[in-house]
Amino acid sequence: MSIRKHRVMGNYGNAGYNAAEEITESLHKIMFAKRTNWNLTPNGLSEALAAHRAAGRPLFDLTVSNPTECGFEYDGAAILKALSNPAVLSYEPNSRGLESARRAVARYYGEHNAEVSLEDIFLTTSTSEAYSYAFRTLCDPGDELLIPSPSYPLFDFLADIQDVSLVRYPLVYDHGWQIDFHALEQAVTPRTRGVIVVHPNNPTGHFAKRAEIVKLNAICEARELAIIADEVFLDFSIAGEPAPSFAANGGALTFTLSGLSKICGLPQMKAAWLIVSGPKAMKNEAIARLEIIADTYLSLNAPVQLAIPNFLEERYAFQKQVISRVRSNLAELDRQLGAQESCSRLTVEGGWCVVLRVPATRSDEDLAIHLLATTGVCAHPGHFYEFPSDGQLVVSLITPEQGFAQGMRRLLSGF
Ligand SMILES: Cc1ncc(COP(=O)(O)O)c(C=O)c1O
Repeated sequence: MSIRKHRVMGNYGNAGYNAAEEITESLHKIMFAKRTNWNLTPNGLSEALAAHRAAGRPLFDLTVSNPTECGFEYDGAAILKALSNPAVLSYEPNSRGLESARRAVARYYGEHNAEVSLEDIFLTTSTSEAYSYAFRTLCDPGDELLIPSPSYPLFDFLADIQDVSLVRYPLVYDHGWQIDFHALEQAVTPRTRGVIVVHPNNPTGHFAKRAEIVKLNAICEARELAIIADEVFLDFSIAGEPAPSFAANGGALTFTLSGLSKICGLPQMKAAWLIVSGPKAMKNEAIARLEIIADTYLSLNAPVQLAIPNFLEERYAFQKQVISRVRSNLAELDRQLGAQESCSRLTVEGGWCVVLRVPATRSDEDLAIHLLATTGVCAHPGHFYEFPSDGQLVVSLITPEQGFAQGMRRLLSGF
């Protein structure tokens, strides 16, 4: 039996598995696909959290990201009514998804000044599924995609499952975050198929700026690379100024991804989409291939598709609450940070979380475990998001206000 080592890079707190650890011998290695040789032992923080909970100790959780558990008000009656449309009783398969739903998605982009045709929209069950469609359309096994670092740790598993290699391009922080274009260009190889942009990025909370979008298009156009733009947090601009969407981007072939889980705070409804734009011939070719992928799965259920127009209507009330909470938690954070000298925070433009700069006296994961033990506060270590050095913690800004203020006070008392 050959001992093949597989590397599982950065990982998400939800999954709770080990980051950047090598998998060694396993009894059943020959039986299963190498792409699934993941290290499934829980990471240290997950273990500490499980022990903390099991011991019944008080927990101040500053990592909450499930909007349905954060005390936001939803119009429950409207949501349930939208799910009981009599049209659910018939089946109308459509590889792109029901036209009424795509029309609502096109309207959403119209409100972002992006004209999107119904033919360019593919509905999926999640943004993650939309990623997999894009990866499958673009990449042969071993092909590469560039991803921002730091960023959301979902990509590693998604890429493993689709046999895609990820290559990181750095974001640099200097009075705000920017793409390091020199490093991005250096990272391109003959196997690179595209560049992923998270807009705004999670957890740095920065939007791609207009000049960056122009430059990204130029780089991708010149090298025939696609842009994959993840816009799940697009609507959550803290300053209130709407950011431009990639949905009608015309330079490079572009796949724009978003969905209801963040926009409407309805992750349980499992509805998202992928929009194709770019030079006509390339776009048509991509759409023809995507049609086959989507038609093979037809993965969305009818009740949710029929409800998408109503769910999107509900988003205004939800987003208003989120933005108000994020601003209020940031103001509270700044008040507390102003009263001490050990910690500070990075600039945040959008999204649901904030990065704290903390003394780098030990690894971020050890620090998070230590803080859980000493203060009862759970925060994400920066290394979950591939920060290049220690000294960062990530906390959720959608934590209910009182819990946030209390949790932050306790967290800061730990330094
Ligand atoms: C940047 C980003 N993209 C995608 C997702 C996943 O979205 P979905 O629930 O639609 O799969 C998340 C979830 O947290 C995210 O933070």
